[in-house]
Amino acid sequence: MKAVAVQEFGGPEGLAVVDLPVPDPAGGQVLISTEAIGVGGVDMLIRNGSLAAYGFQPGHVLGGEIAGTVAAVGDGVDPAWLGQRVWAFTGIGGGYAEQAVAPAETLVPLPPAVTPVDAVTLGSSGMVAHFGLRHVHFAPGESVLVRGAAGGIGIMAVQLAARGGAGAIAVTTSSPERGERLRELGATQVLGRDGGGAEGFDVILDIVAGPELPSFFGKLNPNGRLVVVGVLGGEPPADLGKELFAGFRRSLSFATFSADTVPMAERSAATADVFAGGLRAVVHEVLPLEQAEAAHRKLDAGEVFGRLVLTTGKVSGARGTAGA
Ligand SMILES: NC(=O)c1ccc[n+]([C@@H]2O[C@H](COP(=O)([O-])OP(=O)(O)OC[C@H]3O[C@@H](n4cnc5c(N)ncnc54)[C@H](OP(=O)(O)O)[C@@H]3O)[C@@H](O)[C@H]2O)c1
Repeated sequence: MKAVAVQEFGGPEGLAVVDLPVPDPAGGQVLISTEAIGVGGVDMLIRNGSLAAYGFQPGHVLGGEIAGTVAAVGDGVDPAWLGQRVWAFTGIGGGYAEQAVAPAETLVPLPPAVTPVDAVTLGSSGMVAHFGLRHVHFAPGESVLVRGAAGGIGIMAVQLAARGGAGAIAVTTSSPERGERLRELGATQVLGRDGGGAEGFDVILDIVAGPELPSFFGKLNPNGRLVVVGVLGGEPPADLGKELFAGFRRSLSFATFSADTVPMAERSAATADVFAGGLRAVVHEVLPLEQAEAAHRKLDAGEVFGRLVLTTGKVSGARGTAGA
């Protein structure tokens, strides 16, 4: 089967289309014939070496979020999944491939109205945005700032905050055109990347972090909460706490959030809610799997609004249980 692997960490040219054996699902896993594969910020961070500390090796197949048809099940997995169209989370990789294995506990059936492309656009991003907002106890009527709103997670956070009755939703983005598109999704105020000229937020959901993070503490209301869910701008400065303590008398809270801390059953339930929730799947572009390198060039160039999706153009049926 065709897959895309990182042969050399760094630029998109380090990605290569390779031929690999079809993986066998282990106990508790399923094999999925992929139709759509999400391309996200985390893939870019793995590819360019930013997450080298996690020990990724050359030959690593990227891709955590896939949708397709269950083609085989491993030991202990209900064979009723065979032939079902599902969304799945592979974990740290393996998704940029015509066939991929994923833990059965991550599977979410696709409702008829949700296409595989929509599913990989809404699924993981919507789940992370949902739990990120919950982590900082976002409540109806509160004002929210989404920092890095033009990406997968940000677009979902804007829509979920609007649906959750936010009093105001500000966004940071790099262009007025993107700002207009975010307004169509529920944003009420558009700011530049530095968030300049705005303050008074109860909640900040930050997908960027980086050196500018501490300046955002000053934009919080008393009892305000800032949660970092992504690090697209790199790690924050080591003296991060200085600014937080400068606001000590305003009772500010700072948190990080990773979906890794949420039990898989809760994640799957939240993903199913997102699929059923009438939210807009904002797809930047759909490209064939073989063009993963081109997709990554677009990510690196910062030209992506919403989700980039790879497709295999294949819809396979079930091929029986593993080992059968
Ligand atoms: N917490 C979790 O459980 C979890 C799960 C999955 C992924 N993640 C993390 O989430 C991040 C990816 O999120 P995503 O897929 O939504 O991102 P994305 O789609 O790649 O991009 C988000 C937006 O952020 C802005 N941005 C990018 N780099 C920036 C920078 N250096 N400074 C300021 N703004 C910048 C860009 O918009 P503008 O150009 O318009 O500003 C971009 O469109 C990664 O860090 C990943 O590790 C976290």
